[in-house]
Amino acid sequence: MAAVLNSVRAFFAPSSFVIDAENPGDVVARENLLDRAMGVERRKKSSEKLRRGRIPADGLALVARDRDGHVIGTVRLWNVEAGVGMDGNAINALLLGPLAVDPEHGGKGVGSALMRAAIMEAKQRGHGAILLVGDAPYYERFGFFAAKAQHLVMPGPFERSRFLALELEEGWLDGVAGILVPTGRMLATAPVRKAA
Ligand SMILES: CC(C)(COP(=O)(O)OP(=O)(O)OC[C@H]1O[C@@H](n2cnc3c(N)ncnc32)[C@H](O)[C@@H]1OP(=O)(O)O)[C@@H](O)C(=O)NCCC(=O)NCCS
Repeated sequence: MAAVLNSVRAFFAPSSFVIDAENPGDVVARENLLDRAMGVERRKKSSEKLRRGRIPADGLALVARDRDGHVIGTVRLWNVEAGVGMDGNAINALLLGPLAVDPEHGGKGVGSALMRAAIMEAKQRGHGAILLVGDAPYYERFGFFAAKAQHLVMPGPFERSRFLALELEEGWLDGVAGILVPTGRMLATAPVRKAA
């Protein structure tokens, strides 16, 4: 992870921001940023069904920080099963989202740096494909296309033209069909105290 992040720092973020691993101290700043960038309606998205109560995929929760260390961008990826392949075996993949950048820092390459870092890290960790729901004109520049996800379905309402995929390993999604199912580890819940 450190190697990838260092190369991202050097290549994509010469001065004004760095890409870093998200840590527990970032949670409040990240939630506030998401509300500002996407509005509270974000919680009703179908992607949210695949994330709720789960932990992001190992090493795949990244933030962008300004020079003072403040969170100005975020991206997370999640483990899912993306239907079954032609041999009937379940196919593992990642679901990306949300990606968001603080509106005050938009248009400076923060979103692109987060995307490139996430893709590099996912590839280095041996994942085969990344799926997401988003604006094709933005995500096509990173290699995401609707055709690759044409036989897959989100577990809830979604726009087919916005459901996109990137293969990290060529042919990973060939002949793959079905509905996305979350497979990431569950968040630990606090034990419920019983009244005496
Ligand atoms: C989308 C988002 C992450 C982009 O972050 P960013 O740091 O501003 O992006 P970058 O600086 O790396 O890239 C800017 C480029 O992306 C383009 N772009 C930004 N949002 C776009 C969109 N929704 N569709 C198409 N292009 C878009 C800009 O026009 C700009 O193009 P240019 O390079 O030709 O000038 C950010 O605007 C955001 O957080 N939006 C709200 C949350 C959201 O919608 N997230 C999901 C995206 S579908």
